[in-house]
Amino acid sequence: MLQVFQQIDAQLRQAMAAAFPEAAAATADQGLDPQLAAASKPEFGDLQANGALALAKPLGQKPRAIAEAIVARLQADPAFTALCLEPQIAGPGFINLTLRPERLAAEVALRLGDPRLGVPLADGPRAGAPAPVIVDFSSPNIAKEMHVGHLRSTIIGDCLARVLEFRGHPVLRLNHVGDWGTQFGMLITHLKQVAPEALNTADAVDLGDLVAFYRQAKQRFDEDPAFQATAREEVVKLQGGDPVSLKAWGLLCEQSRRAFQAIYDRLAIQLSERGESFYNPFLAAVVDDLRSAGLLVVDEGAGCVFLEGVSGKEGKPLPLIVQKSDGGFNYATTDLAAIRYRFAPPPAGDGAARVIYVTDAGQASHFAAVFQVAERAGWIPQGCRVEHVPFGLVQGEDGKKLKTRAGDTVRLKDLLDEAVERAEADLRRRLADEGRQEDEAFIRHAATTVGLAAVKYADLSQNRTTNYQFSFDRMLALQGNTAPYLLYAVVRIAGIARKGGDAANTGTSDEISGLFATKDNPLSFSEPQEWALVRELLRFDAVIAEVEQELLPNRLCTYLFELSQVFNRFYDQVPVLKAPPQARSSRLALCRLCADTLKKGLELLGIPTLERM
Ligand code: ARG
Repeated sequence: MLQVFQQIDAQLRQAMAAAFPEAAAATADQGLDPQLAAASKPEFGDLQANGALALAKPLGQKPRAIAEAIVARLQADPAFTALCLEPQIAGPGFINLTLRPERLAAEVALRLGDPRLGVPLADGPRAGAPAPVIVDFSSPNIAKEMHVGHLRSTIIGDCLARVLEFRGHPVLRLNHVGDWGTQFGMLITHLKQVAPEALNTADAVDLGDLVAFYRQAKQRFDEDPAFQATAREEVVKLQGGDPVSLKAWGLLCEQSRRAFQAIYDRLAIQLSERGESFYNPFLAAVVDDLRSAGLLVVDEGAGCVFLEGVSGKEGKPLPLIVQKSDGGFNYATTDLAAIRYRFAPPPAGDGAARVIYVTDAGQASHFAAVFQVAERAGWIPQGCRVEHVPFGLVQGEDGKKLKTRAGDTVRLKDLLDEAVERAEADLRRRLADEGRQEDEAFIRHAATTVGLAAVKYADLSQNRTTNYQFSFDRMLALQGNTAPYLLYAVVRIAGIARKGGDAANTGTSDEISGLFATKDNPLSFSEPQEWALVRELLRFDAVIAEVEQELLPNRLCTYLFELSQVFNRFYDQVPVLKAPPQARSSRLALCRLCADTLKKGLELLGIPTLERM
């Protein structure tokens, strides 16, 4: 109900300005702040305005008297009285506001059948072509396995991209894969000796082999100076565009790319690959730019930018190294080239308005440094935002780094397989208990949906900044803040539709949307459980706006969990299908809006729903 909230906020501001013109004039253009917020308890109504308290001192009046003066003005405003019941003044001078029931019902009616469910599109883009939001996520490294950290980045990044897209932003989903640098020198040198076919034939090795070769190459690099020298020459060749090296490099990338894509396909992740190599042609210009901006300092042969406000041991300022003493560039140089390119106006760049990086919290100081240098170099245009979205580690149930029983790192494919297998076992057990017969296609589909949903939801429902304990048992539980619990709420509503939606069936394949076809029937609610559900449903737009600002998917999860709980309470305590006709159609409408909201919310988390499970 963002719009209603904004209307009331404006009405309060007007009332305050009218009641206290001198105080309002003294605030320049800002006006007096009503400090409007959601009510802290349901018994206080819907909203509360605490602005009277802050005025007590400057006006030298009792806050209650100030609140009374504001309320008197509000009550004289017909636009306000059309929205709210008579305000109540509580405690020292809080103004409690309750929306008129008929307004709440009208807001519900507006959302029925609205594919946006009342969520407005974000404010218009800057003049000219719409400025994209870039979400840099997933970003695994070639010739290495994608690990659980990349899985977190993938799931969180995808969700944030979906929310931003839903708000109407053009979103560029970028996979900044690690496909450049010293590791290729080592790998190519090693493969030339042990498996030359991998360098000129596609599919000669698979990713598993490649990972093993990479490990051996790294070990030789660390132990053998001769190998090290050859590997370095190999990097120079590659970076210089030697066709043989480039071909080998391309084959290695392709091999990894296919393994990554298998994971993305399974999780329905859309991503455009734009790896580190893309920025290779811009690296020298980045260093030149920093030099002309007077930011570059050569320290022990390396090109550095000294960071402001960051110091290391003995209070010495810390540098960001942008060019190594051998002339080579590093991860930071590439990120500087990337940020410069992303904000630069087209055609020389992406012309982004906001750039978001989703990586583990361990890279926080790297990004803080890159952002600071980019800012000082003047690469971030006024009004544009750049944000690091950090997340914690994935831990096993023992609180230690997630490992297999044998102590190896967990492969993502195995992890997803296990989630689906366990979901399938749970489902078969439940079917047997309930004496239900289902065909194998249904079981496979339901188990796959639930298993993958559980993995995604368990990750998204945690505040991402903390470490997260991976537990199949917990994420697959039917009770609690889990994917199965939410999916089950949707299934429950689909069941209501099947039992009672017939009369209203609109002939769509989607059973739930058949629930409410009697549009002209005015909605009316009487029970507290109905009002609780109405109010919960109407919070959706505010939650989405919050996720868009704060980039915290767990806010959306918490909301969907609460919505499911409020719905279940409603459905357990109030008759729906057996209610008298008027109440029945209003309650069915609530069921429908609830299903639509849960489905949309889950979709924004990257989770498809089921009509039966
Ligand atoms: N490849 C990096 C890693 O695996 C993540 C890259 C994140 N994005 C970036 N622009 N640095 O840790």
